[in-house]
Amino acid sequence: MKNTVVVGAQFGDEGKAKITDLLAQEADFITRFQGGSNAGHTVVVNGKKYAFHLVPSGILYENKTCMIGAGCVIKPDDLKNEIENIILQGVSREHFETCLKISPLAHITMKYHTDIDGYSENNLKENKIGTTKKGIGPTYTDKYNRCGIRVEDLFNKEILSKKLDVILPKKNRELEFVYNLKPYSKEEILLECDEYRKILAPYVDFNWENNLLDNLKNKTILFEGAQGVMLDIDYGTYPYVTSSSPTAGGACVGASMGAKAVERAIGVFKAYMTRVGEGAFITELTDLEGEKLRSIGGEFGVTTGRPRRCGWFDTISAKYAVLVGGLTEIALTKLDVLDSFDEIKLAVAYKNKKTGEIIKYYPTNVYTHQDYEPVYEVHKGWMKDITKCKTYDELPENAKLYLKRLEEILGIKITIISVGPDREQTIFL
Ligand code: GDP
Ligand code: IMO
Ligand code: MG
Repeated sequence: MKNTVVVGAQFGDEGKAKITDLLAQEADFITRFQGGSNAGHTVVVNGKKYAFHLVPSGILYENKTCMIGAGCVIKPDDLKNEIENIILQGVSREHFETCLKISPLAHITMKYHTDIDGYSENNLKENKIGTTKKGIGPTYTDKYNRCGIRVEDLFNKEILSKKLDVILPKKNRELEFVYNLKPYSKEEILLECDEYRKILAPYVDFNWENNLLDNLKNKTILFEGAQGVMLDIDYGTYPYVTSSSPTAGGACVGASMGAKAVERAIGVFKAYMTRVGEGAFITELTDLEGEKLRSIGGEFGVTTGRPRRCGWFDTISAKYAVLVGGLTEIALTKLDVLDSFDEIKLAVAYKNKKTGEIIKYYPTNVYTHQDYEPVYEVHKGWMKDITKCKTYDELPENAKLYLKRLEEILGIKITIISVGPDREQTIFL
């Protein structure tokens, strides 16, 4: 397999983890490159369900290295809980200690970051983003404001202490006077850092540069994205986005690799769309049809349990995601969820509700989205259970027409079709 990046191409939860887990069979090195425990990734193996947040979805295989890359943010206590839960499901602690690696350059989500995220979400009222409250935005803010704490800082007490002398007085003023939140003493933060150091110590890869050279020379690399292009900090529905870059471009930066390392970018699309949190969603269905998609698709957040908003596939935002996400092929998931819909819709244009103007491009200013409604192309459903189809030929004719039309509009090939959550329920083309 060529070095491959798996990119969410919608608003997240497209089924990236299932695709990553499948492709991980052929990879040696699987690396997450952005995001943190805001992600909720589900892998199903022989009916057994695993939930990952920060741990790369390749962890279920032996003899693979799974890296949490420099572009990620880590909340060590959340990571600890995640690992313990997977251990309870039968994966050994030794396996984690052998296979899981953490970049010393990744940033730490401190308690004050989650305090600020929670405060903002609870107080912004109608302007809230609907974040996962995992402290993601405040951690990346500090990273880019050059006052973050990196994994490597935890392992050098002298430098950590000096850094805190600069960071903490500023942070405490922010906590107290901007957010009306409790400040932290240096002793409290040092204790927090002690706890985090113990949690991360077995996994931190201080030899990452040499290991990376080895991986680039001899190994197959799989880059695992979290979130999706429409949640990207630059290209998504800003400000209703996450604070990192889930695109193929983001993969190079976040995994400490050059552009040549990525040879193939698979955009994972659901056969319909979902979104958790606030922000425009032009094809959202707030009626019984949306309810039906949610209940058949099991559309509830893995991280927060929130019901996901559901709607039809939007080819306008999808074409935009192919472009800015740098996508070279498509993995289409959850096609089976459409089995009982007699009509399946594809948004092929937007109509301005005030002027009647039809547009076929994606308007990047999210505040204008309320002016648009989708223009649909209606396809006949197949009204048949496809969850046991193993080949493209076994798919019903109407399903094939739907897939062909998607390829035609998006201009890239569908190479993977997923017809159920299990590894087995996958058609490779
Ligand atoms: P991710 O965040 O992109 O990895 O996706 P999530 O794990 O948050 O959400 C995808 C959900 O759909 C999970 O519950 C998967 O087990 C499930 N899933 C993935 N592919 C399929 C599929 O083809 N059909 C069905 N019915 N479920 C799927
Ligand atoms: P996976 O990897 C779906 C959404 C949140 C919110 C916005 C910002 O499972 O696809 P954040 O906590 O990141 O600051 O929240 O982004 N969001 C996701 N939605 N899937 C995810 O991850 C998400 N991660 C963040 O709901 O709207
Ligand atoms: Mg998810």
